[in-house]
Amino acid sequence: MRLREVDWRDLATMAALEGEIFPDDAWSEATMWAELAMRPRRAYLVADDGAQGGGLLGYAGLDLAGDVADVMTVAVDPRARGRGLGRALLTGLHDLARDAGCGAVMLEVRADNDSAVGLYRAHGYEVVRTRPGYYRDAAGGPARDALIMRKELDEDD
Ligand SMILES: CC(C)(COP(=O)(O)OP(=O)(O)OC[C@H]1O[C@@H](n2cnc3c(N)ncnc32)[C@H](O)[C@@H]1OP(=O)(O)O)[C@@H](O)C(=O)NCCC(=O)NCCS
Repeated sequence: MRLREVDWRDLATMAALEGEIFPDDAWSEATMWAELAMRPRRAYLVADDGAQGGGLLGYAGLDLAGDVADVMTVAVDPRARGRGLGRALLTGLHDLARDAGCGAVMLEVRADNDSAVGLYRAHGYEVVRTRPGYYRDAAGGPARDALIMRKELDEDD
């Protein structure tokens, strides 16, 4: 596995993965182009299999607006999960945030997203606020809480 900065050639594959991973609120390829255009305020990393023109396995992004960076997304191909890619992408974002002089990182996650909340807790994120019923279900199901989580960047990971 190789971690590298995103390239415009990745965007079509990212958009296809995005549609599979977030079927209810996927970013379009146009949104991804807009994110890319916001560099250096935005920073995206991709994980690929390391081969020439290799398959994209995951991606993650950061907003570097101030002292506290915001995680925009972390996503791993369902076929490549449980192999440490989420961990590698998140650690890569922390390095970028540190390099940009940020002292902390924040993010928002659905409270019932066990794998993501598990990943963030394993990296020292703590819940600083809850937004009850923040995520509405278009199909009429129950609304889900959002957790706002924060990690100080004075630690190693
Ligand atoms: C969350 C996600 C990025 C994790 O990616 P991954 O490559 O499978 O994660 P890793 O293999 O690096 O696991 C790292 C740690 O995350 C936690 N974790 C991963 N999957 C988990 C699960 N199903 N349940 C609980 N914790 C989990 C564990 O702490 C794990 O460490 P361990 O392997 O030492 O136990 C992946 O499940 C994903 O893409 N989910 C859909 C997209 C999403 O919801 N993104 C977050 C939006 S806020």
